[in-house]
Amino acid sequence: MRASLICSATLYSLTCFSFSTNHGDTSENTLADYVALAAKIARESEVKRDSSIRAFDADAQRISTTGKHAYIAPGADDIRGPCPGLNTLANHGYISRSGVDSVLAITTASNEVFGMGLDLAAFLSVYSGVMAGNITSVSIGGKPKSGGLLGGLASSLDLLGEAQGLSASHNRFECDASPTRADLYTTGDAVSLNLTQFERLIAMPKGPNGYDLTVMNQFRGIRFNDSISTNGHFFTGPFTHLAVNAAAHAFTYRLFGNWSDEHPGEGYLDLETLKSFEGVTGEPGEFQWERGRERIPENQWHRRPIGDDYTLVSLNFDALDAITTVPYIIAIGGNTGKPNTFVGVDIANLTGGVFNAQTLLEGNNLACFAFQAISVASPDIIRGSILGDLAQTAVQKLTDALNPVLTTFNCPQLIKYDKSLFEAFPGGEMGF
Ligand code: HEM
Repeated sequence: MRASLICSATLYSLTCFSFSTNHGDTSENTLADYVALAAKIARESEVKRDSSIRAFDADAQRISTTGKHAYIAPGADDIRGPCPGLNTLANHGYISRSGVDSVLAITTASNEVFGMGLDLAAFLSVYSGVMAGNITSVSIGGKPKSGGLLGGLASSLDLLGEAQGLSASHNRFECDASPTRADLYTTGDAVSLNLTQFERLIAMPKGPNGYDLTVMNQFRGIRFNDSISTNGHFFTGPFTHLAVNAAAHAFTYRLFGNWSDEHPGEGYLDLETLKSFEGVTGEPGEFQWERGRERIPENQWHRRPIGDDYTLVSLNFDALDAITTVPYIIAIGGNTGKPNTFVGVDIANLTGGVFNAQTLLEGNNLACFAFQAISVASPDIIRGSILGDLAQTAVQKLTDALNPVLTTFNCPQLIKYDKSLFEAFPGGEMGF
């Protein structure tokens, strides 16, 4: 218990209690790489982000799709999963083409190829290593058939058995109401792109920057209502809904958008670019999707400007923007077993009065609530062999580097988190 109280003192406390001895060897070389990355995160946290429009620099922003980064369709044993960004990175060899790679490689590639801030990329990667991998590595899809980095190693969460990968992380990471993936309990497949949803997305009236946030925010509202009306297990947890679901919608535009001389500031996401990253071919009305076809558009795609990475702060900003646009999506709760039975929990009751529906929209509270929920809820499901065994690992270097970044959020301290309020929701047992 002491660990959870100590750890919940900071926003990025998730990994404080998650290090077991059960995470494989870390060679000195790898450790050095993690230390170097941690130092880079620390340095970048001190640089004030400058979001003024930068001149378009084609050479610096163009992402290679040739040589060792040529697109190659995955082989039968290569793993792909619910994240089109990670699938793309694997299909182009920016992370292992096998679909299983280290937290370090996934963090670095997400930053270099898509301009995701190192803080956000490290957070997502570490979290996926903890929740779906063996802490230092993770499968971007299902469980590896044999060997690989995860071979034989138990999940970091002993109660979840062997590391299962991101595809099996429902309501720990993979969540309902995603833009292009169906809900697990409606189709049984939350991993493949759903063509009906894709058709609906691309039929939305485009915004000034194509499929930009004006589109994605409205679409998020539509997907939220879809889940209420079709999925008896729909659950909107503080982390999965306020952070992951917000990210899934915002990333589509913020990270897939194409930068150019015409769009040096915010980028533009057109249909062809979106189709390419989502692995879709064909024309409206007869689109096709096949596993493993996610590609960077050949020789013509330019990432966000160097130095204007999409950070944790950027995500918090966009998450607030979405709630301002479609305020009803802020509800935390779920359906109670049948469609159209959505009940929201009282956020003040859930958090012992630290947050309420009003204060959640102030300052960084939205991010504070989302991220603290995992740190307070987690000890209940990982009690046992994990607590009290806080081995130092290479990955911990990353979390140490993130702590100062996250303390700048100045979060109110969340001590109480009454997860029993989620018992009414069949989808809510994790409480994330
Ligand atoms: C850094 C490590 C990353 C991890 C661990 C991760 C993991 C995930 C997971 C588990 C989902 C499914 C969420 C859901 O159910 O809605 C998801 C969705 C998504 N991710 Fe990632 N991701 C990462 C990086 C990236 C990057 C670099 C991009 C680049 C664009 C990206 C773009 C997306 C998008 C657009 C979706 C929404 C898919 C949909 O339409 O439903 N992610 N990611």
